[in-house]
Amino acid sequence: MHHKVAVIGGDGIGPEVTEQAHRVSAAAAQRAGLELEYTVFPYGADYYLEHGVGIEPQRFDEFRDQYGAILFGAVGDARVPDMAHGREILLGARFKLDLYINLRPIKLFAPELCPLKDKGASEVDMVIFRENTEGLYVGVGGQVRKGSADEIATQTAVYTRKGTERIIRAAFNYARQNKRRSVCMTDKANAMRQGHELWQRTFREVAAEFTDIEHFHLYVDVAAMEMVRAPERFDVIVTENLFGDILSDLGAGLQGGLGTAASGNIHPNRCSLFEPVHGSAPDLVGTGQANPMAAVLSAAMMLNHLGCSPAAERIEQAVVDQIVAGETTPDLGGNLSCSEVGDRLLARVG
Ligand code: NAD
Ligand code: IPM
Ligand code: MN
Repeated sequence: MHHKVAVIGGDGIGPEVTEQAHRVSAAAAQRAGLELEYTVFPYGADYYLEHGVGIEPQRFDEFRDQYGAILFGAVGDARVPDMAHGREILLGARFKLDLYINLRPIKLFAPELCPLKDKGASEVDMVIFRENTEGLYVGVGGQVRKGSADEIATQTAVYTRKGTERIIRAAFNYARQNKRRSVCMTDKANAMRQGHELWQRTFREVAAEFTDIEHFHLYVDVAAMEMVRAPERFDVIVTENLFGDILSDLGAGLQGGLGTAASGNIHPNRCSLFEPVHGSAPDLVGTGQANPMAAVLSAAMMLNHLGCSPAAERIEQAVVDQIVAGETTPDLGGNLSCSEVGDRLLARVG
């Protein structure tokens, strides 16, 4: 098997964590007999400031037609305060490649990383299916009388039946394939009567086709509380775009912080993008303290997507072993640097 992989480090700590994900995944793939050809692209704030464009739009056609995956770091730079480049690159990829599943696993790798008392690996083990192409992220809205006392701003959420149904269906299929007990759909239908009524109705209809999987609904405010109070209630969570964004950082907090939380922006069987849940972490730039594990685990998800689950499992095991050995960056209590964590992971994987 042979695949092309595009590497986009982006901004802040993005490039340094992505470099570790690149080399660790390359080693694991090679060991498993998967041929990967990586190409590094310079997109990020520097590129935007120099060229006036975040990413050339035709690049997405090239990715879709020729690449198996994109390994991504993070975007976000103070020199581009409105994040124009980030929306072009990251939301551009999600929308133009139609990466409708934002898959964000929440898994506790070692009990000492969990801030909750009396919760261990079997309690904190869930997967968020975040809808990734609709909701409040579509950019529909406007500003009138900007800067005046009578200013108006609107931001419209868009939900389609097709978009809602395909992410809910993906969550149920995942539950079935991965022997997960239940799917929880979370929304705010009590306040958002139009869009989230569509979510509720669609959820009930799709759930009826999956009689082997339990299903339940929680409003998103109580879901946030329950994830902290009783995380063991959750197996698979499916939700709309913005709620999925927020709940996935909450979930990252349950498993040891953003340094460990991985994600995949996926269209099944097509070029998909893999990135840590975290951002560019400006506070860590230049300190060498960025934890590369979230990026490395995202690369493992990429290897799974490319059909090489043994390589993915090898990386996950290496991360677990390394956390247990205390060979980590300071966010997990260790004293290694980003590249040193990468070196040790490489040794474990290779
Ligand atoms: P952030 O995720 O960058 O950082 C939040 C906190 O988590 C910080 O204290 C940071 O030090 C810590 N952290 C993040 N990654 C870490 C890692 N690998 N190891 C150890 N600690 C880590 O969120 P923010 O500060 O709100 O945002 C910074 C910039 O990133 C903003 O411009 C934001 O828009 C952008 N952002 C981008 C993405 C993305 O590219 N997918 C995601 C989130 C935020
Ligand atoms: C994420 C980020 C992005 C999002 C931002 C940078 C637009 O927070 O990937 O979680 O909100 O989706
Ligand atoms: Mn986020």
